[in-house]
Amino acid sequence: MNRPSVLIVDDVEANLIALEAQLSQLECNLVLVSSGNDGLRELLKREFAVMLLDVQMPEMDGYEMAAYARENPATRDVPIIFVTAMLETEATALRGYGSGAVDFLFKPVNPYILRSKVQVFLDLYSSRRKVTDTLAAHQRTLKDLEAFNYSVSHDLRAPLRPLDGFSQTLLEDYADKLDERGRGYLLKIRAAAQRMGQLIDDLLRLSRIRSAELSAREFNLSQLGETITAELRASEPERKVELTLQPGLMARGDPALLRIALENLLRNAWKFTSKRPAAHIELGQREDGAYFVRDDGVGFDTTYAARLGQPFQRFHGAAQFEGTGIGLAIVALIVRNHGGQFWAESAPDQGATFFFTLALPEESPGDAAG
Ligand SMILES: Nc1ncnc2c1ncn2[C@@H]1O[C@H](COP(=O)(O)OP(=O)(O)OP(=O)(O)O)[C@@H](O)[C@H]1O
Ligand SMILES: [Mg+2]
Repeated sequence: MNRPSVLIVDDVEANLIALEAQLSQLECNLVLVSSGNDGLRELLKREFAVMLLDVQMPEMDGYEMAAYARENPATRDVPIIFVTAMLETEATALRGYGSGAVDFLFKPVNPYILRSKVQVFLDLYSSRRKVTDTLAAHQRTLKDLEAFNYSVSHDLRAPLRPLDGFSQTLLEDYADKLDERGRGYLLKIRAAAQRMGQLIDDLLRLSRIRSAELSAREFNLSQLGETITAELRASEPERKVELTLQPGLMARGDPALLRIALENLLRNAWKFTSKRPAAHIELGQREDGAYFVRDDGVGFDTTYAARLGQPFQRFHGAAQFEGTGIGLAIVALIVRNHGGQFWAESAPDQGATFFFTLALPEESPGDAAG
C-alpha cells in the first residue's frame, strides 16, 4: 500500500512495456501513461518519488510537461529523469535542466543504469518521508504537551480558591481565637496562595500565546507605542518620565501579539525607572532594522542575559520591584513566532535596552485577508 510511486510517460506503447519490465523488480508502484496531459493529471492525484519523461512526444513534449509540473507548487519537487533518443547537444540539455531536470537517460536504455537511477530517487523519497513523518509526530507531541500543560495549570487553580477563601474566613471570623503569631501565619498562607494563583495565570497566558495563530499585516508601531505609554502615564501621572517615540515606525506582524510584547517592554522600562526622580524612555529602530526600547533605569547584570526570556527569571528582588517574571518570556515567544531575534544590553545602574527584530516572510500564510 505504502510503496512509493513512479510515473512513466511515453507515447510509444512498446517503450512503456519495456520500462515497466525493467523496473518491475523495484519496490515501487509504476504508473504508465502515454501523453504529457495524462501525466500531469496523474501528478495531481498522488505523490510520486520520481517521473521518467520521454522527451520526444507529439502535442506536449517531455520538456513542456516538466515546465508545467514545475509551475504547480504541488508537483514542483518531483524529480525528473528525461528519457531521450537524441544525442543531446548542450543547448537541448540545458533546456532540460532549465525546466528542472535532474537526470538524463539515453535510448536504448541500459536496464541496470535505469534501475540504479530510479532506486536513488526511491531512497531519497523514503528518507524524506521518514523525516516529515517524524516531524509531524513531534509536532503532535508538542501540541499534546501544550494541551496537558494548559489543563494542569487550569486544574491547579481550583484548589487555591478555597485555600485563600477559608484563610480569609479564619482571619475574619476567628481572629479573636488566634494570637498575633497565628494571624501572621494565616496572612502568609493567603499571600502564598495568591502568589501561586498569579504564577498559574502567567503560565496560562504563556500557553495561550504559544498556541495563538499569527494574523500578520503592516502597521504603525509608533502609534502603538503612543497608546501604551499614554496608559502608563495615566496610571501614574505624578511620575516624571520623558518619552521619545520615533515617529512613523512600521512593523510587519500580528498587531495584537506585538501589542502584548511592546506593552511588556514599555511596562518594564516604566517600572525599572521608577526609582529615578526623572526618567527617559525611548522607542526606536536602528539602521539595521532592529527595534528597541531603551530606558535609563536600574539596569541589570548581563551575566544573566542567557536566562533572559525564560519564564520566572527575575534579576531584582520582589521587594524592590513587583512582578512574577513572565513578561520577557512572553516577549521572547512572540518575537520567535515572528521569526525574529530578541536580546538586551544593560549594566547595573546604567539603564537597559531591549532589541527585537521581526522577520516574517513578505507573503506569509498567516497574512490577514484584506
Ligand atoms: N527595563 C529593565 N531594566 C532592568 N531590568 C529589567 C528590565 N526589564 C526586565 N528586567 C529584568 O528582567 C526580569 C524579567 O523581566 P520580566 O518582564 O519577565 O518580569 P517582571 O517584570 O519582573 O514581572 P512581570 O513582567 O511578570 O510582571 C525583571 O525581573 C528584571 O530583573
Ligand atoms: Mg515585566
